[in-house]
Amino acid sequence: MAVRKTGKQKKTGIQSQGEIRRIAINTGGGDAPGLNAVIRAVVLSALHRGWECLGIRDGYNGLFLPEEYPEGGLIHLTHEAVRGIAHLGGTILGTTNRGNPLKYPTRGKDGKLYEKDRSDEVIDAFRKHEIDALIAIGGDGSLGIANVFARKGLRVVGVPKTIDNDLDKTVITFGFDTAVSFATEALDRLHSTAEAHRRVMVVEVMGRYAGWIALNAGVSGNADIILLPEISYDINKVCQKVMEHRIAGRRYAIVVVAEGARPVHGKRSVISQEIGRAERLGGIAEQLAREIEERTGIESRHVVLGHLQRGGTPTTFDRLISLRFGAAAIRALEEGQSGVMVALDPPTVKYVPLEQATRRMKTVPLNCDTILTARDLDICFGD
Ligand code: F6P
Repeated sequence: MAVRKTGKQKKTGIQSQGEIRRIAINTGGGDAPGLNAVIRAVVLSALHRGWECLGIRDGYNGLFLPEEYPEGGLIHLTHEAVRGIAHLGGTILGTTNRGNPLKYPTRGKDGKLYEKDRSDEVIDAFRKHEIDALIAIGGDGSLGIANVFARKGLRVVGVPKTIDNDLDKTVITFGFDTAVSFATEALDRLHSTAEAHRRVMVVEVMGRYAGWIALNAGVSGNADIILLPEISYDINKVCQKVMEHRIAGRRYAIVVVAEGARPVHGKRSVISQEIGRAERLGGIAEQLAREIEERTGIESRHVVLGHLQRGGTPTTFDRLISLRFGAAAIRALEEGQSGVMVALDPPTVKYVPLEQATRRMKTVPLNCDTILTARDLDICFGD
């Protein structure tokens, strides 16, 4: 649906205060289960206050490339548009991890791709469409962008999304619980086939440079070895653990490896690095399974859970925090807040400055109780 002109008086600049009549929502970066629940809560809470709600397609691409969207780069979000979506994976707005307005991939005269700062075009588009505020739903990248917009005067509230759980200043991000639940179920299934064949199964999980998914799924799913980006592993220690198991009569072993894990003195396994997007990690499980088999002589297989961790229905936990985050984001705007991120601080939801939330990545603390629990359960970290 194309955006209709309302005939309201044109604003002269981006308002950081004053009445709100129209807001926009966008979803950026990798999708995560719960996005649609956030959108539903934002829209219903906004409509409830008499605010009009627009959805920007595919990050900010709906503003940059409206011609690519037959129904318009901005869509009206009505009660009808958000009915029955809270349990659905993905995002009804679409998303992209190639549309960073601060580093937009743009072809130069020489035919090569460059990163271009197009942030002022977004500000202009907000002015043109008379949008008073933005709800930015995203991970560290998208919320870092939102922070730049807030500094440029746009009224912005962020909602913390990522299966990786690596955003700071919130106890949890939505999407993480679903990813961990899926990975744990996968581990449960792999135990029986690994045991039947007396194999080592190496399971690669996502998480980028943080080991939250690997740690939580690995401990819950009874892994023998968990390899995290936060603890460089020694392949000798990993193989030693596998052999100890064999000698003790255990017929198989389960290794969970985070995609961002790396060996001592070694590098992360990177698939590709392109202009305008984050590096793609992956391949560590295959490499590790080969090394374990070569060194121990025990047949080894690898499984990459990949995007299965991001797809499908959000767990009840993710659905509920997504709805809570979405409604809280609108309350934040109503209170006159801007440049903040909604954060879970049980039993409540609070607001933290985007500046603080995006300053550093939240990695697994080496002395956290889940690590201590794992060590007490005799799980090896390869250190
Ligand atoms: O940040 C979420 C995430 O799923 C990471 O865990 C992973 O490294 C990355 O996105 C994968 O991105 P893509 O969808 O581009 O393959």
